Amino acid sequence: MTEQELLGGLRAAALSERDPTTSDDVLAVLISEAERINAARILEIGTGRGLTSAALLLATDARITTIEREPARIAAARENFDLFGVSDRVTLLEGDAADILPCLEDAYDLIFLDAAKVQYRRFLPDCKRLLHAGGVLCADDVLLFSSGVPKKRKMLAQHIEEFLQDLQADGDFAATVLPVGKGLAVARKERAS
Ligand SMILES: C[S@@+](CC[C@H](N)C(=O)[O-])C[C@H]1O[C@@H](n2cnc3c(N)ncnc32)[C@H](O)[C@@H]1O
Repeated sequence: MTEQELLGGLRAAALSERDPTTSDDVLAVLISEAERINAARILEIGTGRGLTSAALLLATDARITTIEREPARIAAARENFDLFGVSDRVTLLEGDAADILPCLEDAYDLIFLDAAKVQYRRFLPDCKRLLHAGGVLCADDVLLFSSGVPKKRKMLAQHIEEFLQDLQADGDFAATVLPVGKGLAVARKERAS
């Protein structure tokens, strides 16, 4: 089986369990950003079953640190990293990113923010602190409610909106939102902070 078929199988397994996972067009942007900046160190917040990390590790020579809090997904991701033969280049940190991010000190070239959307705004200062100047922050699903906000999701929609406002108002970032997947914010950190 080819790597692409294995990745397709991984996505199908995630979808059959109703596990959220990264779409192909978002993956393509992440890989192209990683290649463009020659990313050596990548941080992912929200590992899921490891699809994004596996795809990035297969496409580049980068090393990835990825954070996940759900035990079943942690176990699945570890199995998948073994299956793809990339375990030696990935560090899976188990726990809540809200506790882990403030303890991280290494600098990263690319950060993929793909955890609970309600926490994006809270995580932004640590993402900024952990990015090299010239590094790129990508945040998934930022246009989740572009075609309307269900009553029950108003609070979540507001959190995402406030995250985007903070990102776009920050003069250290050059940010844009790409219409891939459910909206991918791509923000380049222009200078050291
Ligand atoms: C959209 S899924 C991630 C999909 C994954 N990036 C992929 O490639 O398929 C979001 C994941 O983030 C995890 N998550 C959400 N909030 C988190 C947090 N605060 N800390 C750690 N993991 C979190 C969820 O358990 C879930 O597995």
